[in-house]
Amino acid sequence: MTKPTKRILSGVQPTGNLHLGNYLGALRNWVRLQQEYECFYCLVDLHAITVQQDPAALRASTRDGAAALLAMGVDPKKSAVFVQSNVPAHAELGWIFNCIARLGWLDRMTQFKEKAGKHKERSTVGLYVYPTLMAADILVYLATHVPVGDDQRQHLELTRDIAQSFNSQYGVEYFPLPEALILGEATRVMSLRDGTKKMSKSDESDYTRINLTDTPDLIAQKIRKARTDPEPLPGSPAGLESRAEAKNLVGIFAALSDRTPAEVLRDYDGAQFSKFKEDLAELTTAKIGPITTEMRRLLADPGYVDSVLRDGAERARAAADPIVRDVKEIVGFLRA
Ligand code: TYM
Repeated sequence: MTKPTKRILSGVQPTGNLHLGNYLGALRNWVRLQQEYECFYCLVDLHAITVQQDPAALRASTRDGAAALLAMGVDPKKSAVFVQSNVPAHAELGWIFNCIARLGWLDRMTQFKEKAGKHKERSTVGLYVYPTLMAADILVYLATHVPVGDDQRQHLELTRDIAQSFNSQYGVEYFPLPEALILGEATRVMSLRDGTKKMSKSDESDYTRINLTDTPDLIAQKIRKARTDPEPLPGSPAGLESRAEAKNLVGIFAALSDRTPAEVLRDYDGAQFSKFKEDLAELTTAKIGPITTEMRRLLADPGYVDSVLRDGAERARAAADPIVRDVKEIVGFLRA
């Protein structure tokens, strides 16, 4: 088998609504990178159940997530779009990686600490080994590049550690060391109510995030209510230091308009937030509205979305199965 040199794997959890952070930090790049890379994009339902999910809601939001990806412009003819649990190779390699990764490495994972909170002993074992499954998602395709938001940086480092450790333990050069692609002006979109917290679908208040399914009115309302400070906008990014909320909104504006924060601030030097927020709401609606409309159109025909996922899973299995077979051979499993 010749090893791929430009292959992407990335994933998104199919739990609840996708938000502007997912879109600007990762998903928009998934669409753009399709031109240059062979891409595998998956809805990671195995990861989703590391915390309790309602089965019917999980099934529905998995289909919604797939429709959102297609609506954004992920092209199922080019890229394989699939559900993680439909490709058993992920879980198989995940187990092997549980036997490579060290407790000490997982103990350092900040996402686990955040999600487990004060009650580590009540968290599932699955949540703890979440990063080893993520490494398997990537390496089961020998993916070389992984487009993600900034919050996944540490998981990508762990993936490289696992790849390297596997290679050295078995004396092979089998796995590549995949590179994170953290691209754009909004790699870490923050909560609209607190500039020190990241925008997240698990935040209790819906006013902290803009969901891809929000109506224009709701988007305008959320942006109007977004926390800012009393100062007018500065003329350059240096004036945003220690103004986390303002910096976040400018970053969102820049990303949505494909400009740099410096370019945006040149237009708004000395402006009040009321004017800036009005324009930001309009821009956000203009960019997100068409995605929502297309998503609704696609969901009116769930048969189509399901057929895309079926075809994607078939292509993903065809790519992943031979790699798992190689790995089993390397590890010394007897093929009966
Ligand atoms: P998830 O579902 O939390 O998020 C999906 C993608 O969106 C990015 N993202 C953000 N980017 C900027 N600002 C934010 N506020 C923000 N919130 C989320 C995430 O970085 C991610 O790229 N562990 C992953 C899913 C996963 C995965 C993988 C990713 C499972 N296996 C293999 C890459 C490769 C996660 O929970 O993403």
